[in-house]
Amino acid sequence: MNADAARQAEVARTAPFQASPNDVAAIANRIACSDHPFAVIMKPTDKCNLRCGYCYVPHRGHHLRMTRDVLKASMSMLSAMLGWRRQLHFIWHGGEPLAMPLSFFEEAVALQRELFPGWFIDNCVQTNGTLLTPEHVAFFADRGFSVSLSIDGPADLHDKNRTFANGRGSYRRVLEAVSLLRERNQAVGAVVVMTPDIAANIERVYRTMRELRINFRINPVIQIAGDRSASPRYAVTPDDYAQAMIALFDLWFEDDVPLHVDPFNLIVGNMISDTVWGCDYHGGCLRDVICVDPDGGVYPCGQLAGRPEFRLGNVLKDDAPAIFAAPMYARLLDRRHLGIAACEGCHHRRICNGGCPVAAYMRGDMLGRDYFCEGRHRLFDHIRRRIEEDVARQAATPLPAPRTGGQCDGRPRPAG
Ligand SMILES: C[S@@+](CC[C@H](N)C(=O)[O-])C[C@H]1O[C@@H](n2cnc3c(N)ncnc32)[C@H](O)[C@@H]1O
Ligand code: SF4
Ligand code: SF4
Repeated sequence: MNADAARQAEVARTAPFQASPNDVAAIANRIACSDHPFAVIMKPTDKCNLRCGYCYVPHRGHHLRMTRDVLKASMSMLSAMLGWRRQLHFIWHGGEPLAMPLSFFEEAVALQRELFPGWFIDNCVQTNGTLLTPEHVAFFADRGFSVSLSIDGPADLHDKNRTFANGRGSYRRVLEAVSLLRERNQAVGAVVVMTPDIAANIERVYRTMRELRINFRINPVIQIAGDRSASPRYAVTPDDYAQAMIALFDLWFEDDVPLHVDPFNLIVGNMISDTVWGCDYHGGCLRDVICVDPDGGVYPCGQLAGRPEFRLGNVLKDDAPAIFAAPMYARLLDRRHLGIAACEGCHHRRICNGGCPVAAYMRGDMLGRDYFCEGRHRLFDHIRRRIEEDVARQAATPLPAPRTGGQCDGRPRPAG
């Protein structure tokens, strides 16, 4: 069996039924009723000027570009799908979104205004930064877009993997993008991808991001069998993940002026509150995200885009109910419940819910546990212990005595 046939067989195994009209109505209802924000990952092109070694985007070089028809049909589908939610987060992704002309984004904003009157709409561009111009920055600043760059820590680590077609590293150009954004007071965030090199140098990565004053999200490399990203060179084991994330957590936790580091802000918040946030923690991500490819293909997640076995339909041909009726979608929406068997007895289940379905697919079963399960488990144990120690230390420290003789007696002061 070739790799594609094996993957199709796997999807068929986890999707043994055809959704009935009742299932479709139930799915539509669950999507409309979710209490998490909904995000659409829009891939306006699969074209990219970089050749990052670990990149999961398939078909690079096809140079597909999203047309106005696809843009409009995507938005119409989303407005039908989301019902009364009236909130939508657009993530402009790719390929490289800034390989599209600025007029594409102007058109997108005009369509958003037309098709989502009164909705809460926001936009984020996820970019490699190398094509960013002052015109982009002015447009994004004026329209309230947020910008996230891809920066893999210090220059030597970044330039190992994030290269132009001629093999030259892209770091210098990314730092120019940071300066351009800051000149317009535009906030800058970043995604760091954890490769074995990044894991082995995690302290240097944190110090660099801190020097740059850039909040970041760190994700381990996702490798799916048969992809170019699946080279053993990029393989991060659950043990590498645990060691690096625990070290990173300690740096962050002990920092006097920490950055905002995802997933730590999320994990700590999830541990101490009732609601669980973050797509790879709350277990219902597939109700809250969808991805549209340049040709209008719809996929359950950005990392699955372009893979025929995960295609749910096409915005030019299929309406929202037809997309919900894709059998694989119905099964994936149930992952939280179906996947729970694999996580039976785990004391972190409330805040982990089996992790990310795409990372679970690294083991060949989207309904199973996240590939990094063992690493996540150790990280959660560690974070929990550190929070408990901190709370105990604070509880044992007497509060400072109230100051006497001061001005404040708790009563409002007369003005002037
Ligand atoms: C696919 S890129 C598209 C947007 C843009 N070209 C960029 O690089 O930011 C989106 C993000 O996915 C990350 N990424 C690419 N391949 C990955 C992989 N195999 N595992 C995890 N993240 C990956 C990139 O580093 C980037 O931060
Ligand atoms: S810049 Fe983004 S899309 Fe392009 S190769 Fe790198 S990770 Fe992939
Ligand atoms: S840590 Fe592992 S076993 Fe526990 S819920 Fe997460 S994926 Fe499941």
